[in-house]
Amino acid sequence: MPNDAEEHRKDATYKKAKREGYRARSAFKLLDIQNRYNIFKRAFYILDLGSTPGSWLQVAKKYAELNLTKHKDKYYQRDHYKIMGVDIKRLSPIEDIKILKMDFTSPEFQVEINNYFNGEKLDLILSDASINKSGNKFSDQARQIKLCLNILDLLTKNLKIKGNFLIKVFQGADFENFYKKMKLLFMDVRSLKPKSSNKRSNEIYLIGLKKKY
Ligand SMILES: C[S@@+](CC[C@H](N)C(=O)[O-])C[C@H]1O[C@@H](n2cnc3c(N)ncnc32)[C@H](O)[C@@H]1O
Repeated sequence: MPNDAEEHRKDATYKKAKREGYRARSAFKLLDIQNRYNIFKRAFYILDLGSTPGSWLQVAKKYAELNLTKHKDKYYQRDHYKIMGVDIKRLSPIEDIKILKMDFTSPEFQVEINNYFNGEKLDLILSDASINKSGNKFSDQARQIKLCLNILDLLTKNLKIKGNFLIKVFQGADFENFYKKMKLLFMDVRSLKPKSSNKRSNEIYLIGLKKKY
């Protein structure tokens, strides 16, 4: 059962999210990760998996817009951004963001990616996607890892070399294996339990920096 301090903290972050115009408290998890690892650096083409209600998309848009203003970056610059969000659940529209209501593990989703991004590779892939928890930690963890493996597959096909990646995983039996797979794909892999995460939850974020190939 959540204790009073936890309830108080949740309530305070909820109010802060509302004040700052975010659709959910999870915006602060992403902002926390951004402050530490600068994953939005030079990110113009962004995919967000499991987006409802949309607070990560709001954060992504903010940084993509900021990146457009950095005209003097001689390494990589674009004059526009493209952001796509997908969820099985309904997601209310956000201006200038492509929103899809579908299962991102379906083969049709890859077609949608190709069409929207014109076959170009992406700078950043985010996933806060989680399975519907049943309450059984073991089977929930196994189902979440299976979902995460699907996401790695999407990543290998769509993320550009040197692109960044963020994914929510559950700690448990298969976690180490998943972490090793990430290590093979990225120059650097970090893990973080954001300050705004529930302390008793086994969720953890893995950050893949600079895809190797
Ligand atoms: C924690 S919520 C995301 C919150 C979001 N990052 C935000 O800040 O508003 C996780 C979402 O993942 C979605 N999801 C899980 N599996 C999915 C799948 N296979 N395809 C599409 N969406 C999925 C769920 O429907 C859920 O809305």
